[in-house]
Amino acid sequence: MDLTQKTRSELIERALNTRSFSYSPYSHYAVGAALLTESGKIYTGVNIENSAYPTSICAERVAIFKAVSEGERSFSAIAIATDNGGSPCGSCRQVMAEFSLQMQVIIVDDSGRVHLDAPLEELLPHAFTPDDLV
Ligand code: THU
Repeated sequence: MDLTQKTRSELIERALNTRSFSYSPYSHYAVGAALLTESGKIYTGVNIENSAYPTSICAERVAIFKAVSEGERSFSAIAIATDNGGSPCGSCRQVMAEFSLQMQVIIVDDSGRVHLDAPLEELLPHAFTPDDLV
């Protein structure tokens, strides 16, 4: 996916800024995500934890579910910001793969340093996708 440097920077900025809304009183690991639709809209998400721990949800899935629930299904990139440039979990990779293996995944730490900038198909090779069900 050909993202302009301006779009890439804006997406990273949005992921970094939205981290402040993370509700993570248990792990203290704040995650912010910013998802870019093909039409150019950005949906943000944060991790939202729960005292019943497994009920918690990751930032990436919040961003994707927000977007899908507003009618969006075509995504070109997602920026993910954490303290240390941590990588998205397997469940989030699978949810992203439902919509596009070509989606660009940009992982940054809290200073905005890019740890990974690669298409989802590199993070989730041999994915199970909707094509497997036809
Ligand atoms: N987390 C995310 O939000 N995204 C990921 O892909 C990895 C983990 C959250 C879940 C939990 O709230 C905290 O980070 C620590 O696992």
